[in-house]
Amino acid sequence: MDHHVSVVGTDLGFACAEGDTLLRSALRAGLSPTYECNSGSCGSCRYELVEGEMRDLRPDAPGLTARDRRKGRRLACQSEPLSSCSVRIAVSEQPARHRPVRQTADLREINRLTHDMAEFVFATRRPAAFSPGQYAMITLPDGRTERAYSMSNIGNCHGNWRFVIKRTPGGSATSVLFDHLEVGATVVLDGPYGNAHLREDDDRKIACVGGGSGIGAMTSIVLGAAALPDAADRTVHLFVGGRTTDDIVLPESLELAGRRLGALHVRTAVSEQHDDAGDAFRGFVHEAVVADLGDDVTDFTCYAAGPPAMTDALARSLVIDRGLDAELLRFDRFC
Ligand SMILES: Cc1cc2nc3c(=O)[nH]c(=O)nc-3n(C[C@H](O)[C@H](O)[C@H](O)COP(=O)(O)OP(=O)(O)OC[C@H]3O[C@@H](n4cnc5c(N)ncnc54)[C@H](O)[C@@H]3O)c2cc1C
Ligand code: FES
Repeated sequence: MDHHVSVVGTDLGFACAEGDTLLRSALRAGLSPTYECNSGSCGSCRYELVEGEMRDLRPDAPGLTARDRRKGRRLACQSEPLSSCSVRIAVSEQPARHRPVRQTADLREINRLTHDMAEFVFATRRPAAFSPGQYAMITLPDGRTERAYSMSNIGNCHGNWRFVIKRTPGGSATSVLFDHLEVGATVVLDGPYGNAHLREDDDRKIACVGGGSGIGAMTSIVLGAAALPDAADRTVHLFVGGRTTDDIVLPESLELAGRRLGALHVRTAVSEQHDDAGDAFRGFVHEAVVADLGDDVTDFTCYAAGPPAMTDALARSLVIDRGLDAELLRFDRFC
């Protein structure tokens, strides 16, 4: 049975299907609440419950501080309405280009990329409708473990969804993905989600910064830029970071993208290798961005994906130290 959710102080309302979250049902209805991770960690989807009954899916979610909890704040991505309710939440009426859809997906390929990264390719019956840089929520066959993974390809009518996934030692989801899931397995794929997607009407130069598995989302952005009608007039700088060159992979699809774009500059950065690293920058990837783009970075729109330490360092270097408008650094926190 659907529950009705009203947004206090507005005439907005939407239906929430049983078992769905407040955040996802708002997005499925075409509304745009503030959010990033969809996993309970970043805290950007905080709201207040004014009336009604809500189940908290992750009571210990790190996205809420003790103060938030004392003040009665909750996370829309971890709240499941159990009755019709009223909430106080920041929502824009600007609809997302693609409304998220929950569907089954079959694992078609696993391609090893590095010692701890692999490309997982899934197929759905419906077209893969998403913008470059977005992510999907994947629920493993146990029906409980769900994690966010960014697509590394671009939307297509074949229902093809590619992900670059890095193993987390002892991680609940990646242990299953790497050690148990076999080609032919079925998962539930819910998406697309995320705001850090390519803005097609933005004609500024593009810088993409990927750390570790963040290369997946950044490959999607580069491919998306290369598919634009004015690709031949566009310049993209791609920065890829890892501890050593063994941690870095450049998907083959980038080569074709490089031929369509006016220019594609690729720069690798290694933080823990000093010998035999070829022409890779020695240091963190955010330092490579500063070394190569310098003060010209304010001419760019920057997209980023990777560990929170990397995106935080990038935000400090580009926005606080070099004056890049915060709106021009786009990332959905990997936390
Ligand atoms: C927007 C976004 C995009 C991402 N894209 C990629 C990608 O393209 N490639 C990639 O390799 N990784 C990506 N990640 C990270 C990925 O979602 C996992 O965190 C990572 O694979 C480790 O998962 P694990 O279960 O193996 O590790 P674990 O250590 O078991 O779990 C790690 C994370 O899972 C989340 N988590 C833990 N418990 C719960 C719970 N009960 N409910 C919901 N979430 C929980 C937490 O955020 C935690 O940090 C992305 C994360 C986000 C938020
Ligand atoms: S905590 Fe809900 S979107 Fe990050």
